[in-house]
Amino acid sequence: MKAILYTQYGPPEVLRLTDIPEPTPRDNEVLVKVRATTVTIGDTIMRSFNLPISGVQKLMARLFLGWSKPKRPILGMELSGEIEAVGRKVTRFQPGQAIFASTFAVDFGGYAEYKCLPENGVLALKPARLSYEEAAAVPGAGMTALHCLKKGKIQPGQKVLVYGASGAVGTNAIQLASRHFGADVTGVCSAANLELVKSLGANRVMDYTRQDFTQDGATYGVIFDAVGKLSPVKGKQALKPSGIYLNVHADSDGADKVENLNLLKELVDTGKLKPVIDRVYPFEQIVEAHRYVEAGHKKGNVVIKIG
Ligand SMILES: NC(=O)c1ccc[n+]([C@@H]2O[C@H](COP(=O)([O-])OP(=O)(O)OC[C@H]3O[C@@H](n4cnc5c(N)ncnc54)[C@H](OP(=O)(O)O)[C@@H]3O)[C@@H](O)[C@H]2O)c1
Repeated sequence: MKAILYTQYGPPEVLRLTDIPEPTPRDNEVLVKVRATTVTIGDTIMRSFNLPISGVQKLMARLFLGWSKPKRPILGMELSGEIEAVGRKVTRFQPGQAIFASTFAVDFGGYAEYKCLPENGVLALKPARLSYEEAAAVPGAGMTALHCLKKGKIQPGQKVLVYGASGAVGTNAIQLASRHFGADVTGVCSAANLELVKSLGANRVMDYTRQDFTQDGATYGVIFDAVGKLSPVKGKQALKPSGIYLNVHADSDGADKVENLNLLKELVDTGKLKPVIDRVYPFEQIVEAHRYVEAGHKKGNVVIKIG
């Protein structure tokens, strides 16, 4: 099968389209013919080893990712596709079903024509109203936004501010805060994305290059930094006294759960959530896709079409 491998850390050009053997599912696994995956900022960070951390944390990350070269040479933390075959003990899925999944806990691997997933992993039937390209973009950023916002214990009508509202996590957070939790949502993004963020359900939008949300007197029950670019001191300045401050870096551990994916599927099925797709690249243009994502200005998600 074709797969995109990286065997050394470095610029986008370290990603190489290569032929490798197709995997065989174990008894409890399904074999997925991958139709689409994504390029996230996380993929570009793992590829370059340009981590926004230092000291012991960076050392630990190097041990996890691979000291001298990457331990997990196929990136891609989410995917959509069709079940091609199932292991002997699989009961929940059948060949021919369309699924979407997170590969976060199974060594990644979305950048390949086939991937084996445990049937009890973070996978679910693909929402029928989404294309494969759209469905691949839901799991990672969707579960992250959902998990963080759950910690906010949001009440209907409560004022919630989402900072970094135009990214993959932010575009999910705006829709979930507004259409699932019923909050009164303010989205903070750059001028080019104001209309997009409004269309996702924000009641108010603010351009962070012209306005400082901590200086207009408004206060919020929940402030969620969905892009991780605010200092906590700054982020907490516009909180109400009992308000909750959430940060995508500090609060996203534990997001990767099948219950979260199932809830996202339900929200997609009922029209409350739709992934925002900025660009779709063919498999062969993975280098260009990484360059674009790494620049840091994508709107929502960047998808790689495989099958
Ligand atoms: N995506 C995932 O699946 C996932 C999962 C877990 C954790 N995370 C983490 O969550 C963070 C956000 O990820 P993401 O995928 O949502 O990022 P992203 O999509 O790459 O974020 C890019 C967006 O952020 C906006 N932006 C850039 N600088 C900004 C600033 N200073 N203030 C406000 N907005 C700014 C950009 O638009 P402008 O430049 O036009 O403002 C662009 O729309 C990352 O640290 C990532 O590692 C992501």
